[in-house]
Amino acid sequence: MGLKKDFLWGSATASYQCEGAVNVGGRVPSMWDTYLHDGGYETGDVASDFYHHYKEDIKMMADGGQNTLRLSLAWPRIIKNIKGEINEEGVEFYRDVLKTCQQYGITPFVTIYHWDLPQYLEEKGGWLNEETCYAFEQYAKVCFEKFGDLIEYWVTFNEPKWFTFNGYMVGNYPPGHHSAQEMIIAAYHVMYASALGVRAFKEGHYKGMIGIVHSFGPVDGIDDTLATKIAMRFADNYANNWILDTAAKGEIPFDLLCVLSQNYDLSCIKNEHLPIIKNYTVDFLGLNYYSRVWVKPYSGGETQLVVNNSGKDFKGESKIVIKGWFEQIMNNPDAIYTEWDVEIYPQGLQKGLKQVWEKYHLPIFITENGVGVREDITVDQVEDDYRISFMNDHISAIMNAVDAGVDVRGYYAWSTFDLYSWKNGVEKRYGLVGIDFDDKELKRKPKKSYYWYKSIAESNGEKIQRKDW
Ligand code: BG6
Repeated sequence: MGLKKDFLWGSATASYQCEGAVNVGGRVPSMWDTYLHDGGYETGDVASDFYHHYKEDIKMMADGGQNTLRLSLAWPRIIKNIKGEINEEGVEFYRDVLKTCQQYGITPFVTIYHWDLPQYLEEKGGWLNEETCYAFEQYAKVCFEKFGDLIEYWVTFNEPKWFTFNGYMVGNYPPGHHSAQEMIIAAYHVMYASALGVRAFKEGHYKGMIGIVHSFGPVDGIDDTLATKIAMRFADNYANNWILDTAAKGEIPFDLLCVLSQNYDLSCIKNEHLPIIKNYTVDFLGLNYYSRVWVKPYSGGETQLVVNNSGKDFKGESKIVIKGWFEQIMNNPDAIYTEWDVEIYPQGLQKGLKQVWEKYHLPIFITENGVGVREDITVDQVEDDYRISFMNDHISAIMNAVDAGVDVRGYYAWSTFDLYSWKNGVEKRYGLVGIDFDDKELKRKPKKSYYWYKSIAESNGEKIQRKDW
């Protein structure tokens, strides 16, 4: 079977993680700027300075055999204030970026929201306030109007689960809260806002397709017992279904709502919203795959949520136990983990792709996949064989799934170049291209993986060393 001829081979970035220039061109603060500055954390003020380097960066992608760039638009660069006034300078910046993509034959794959909520909206309650959903709808309309001629692939939200979970429950992303009730409200509002964005897109008859990007964690169980199967269902609802079912089928998983309704207030879910969620589902699914969710039955104790992305000095052991639901298996001696406790498990992608395809029958893009490591970037070329092997095995998993009939249309390495890895700072590196953040010029240095990926993209995957599990 093999990959289609027009398969998209590219890499991904996000506005706050790469642009820098936070006070340039009329951009106003985002919730991340305020939270990081107030907390004294490392910031993305400069990041990779894509704002000033985008021509060089996009050319480098094309030279590297890539035909697509996943990027996000910064809401605080486009909408100036609570009244919704447009910052034309920000619009011009993105039009230039998109035209540069066009010039180099790079298809832009554009996320409308990758976590940088304007601070003026956070001050009104952010994602806890239903009004933010309507502000998002207006912002999305501005994006469709201003950039619709240059974009074929739109994404409403990047990873609703990850930013609401970290922001409202774990508390290590802005706004830094610790409340399951708030996470439920924020998460629901994001999914409702996504449906409003899809409605605006469909009703405006813009060209192209619109989807959502999910932090995909296919669920595996420790054994075949009934208790594990029940734990797996809880884990699947927690990790995947409330986003994928809602976005793709327009249905919030009912068994999840039943369980939540026993302990939480679900009045944020209003009857008048439901037809919008039902009728405005996505055209495709973007899956960011870093690892599986491997679970066993809940054995006791309080809910514990420790995520190893809490700052560069934090070296904890990740732990997810949800009281009454499931426990995530970590530190298994037979598994391989990164320094940030992420299990390397390409087989999970192959299996997970088949499950998603069977369940939703929508085109799929792998919108992020990569490995974060510390690297010495002072050398001429980083010899990142570990990244090559990681990508090889994951692309092989995708090709196996395609051979089994799954409609996967593109692959995006995370990330195009080294960038700001949120609370981990800039030293957790994912890029195909290295950036020396100590160098004033922020010189770009392609790593070995950049050249390897070029040969893979140019051969449309033929040069992948196929693995079968
Ligand atoms: C995804 C996000 O969760 O994973 C990216 O979409 C993020 O924004 C990436 O950077 C890797 O996670 P981290 O925490 O290592 O940067």
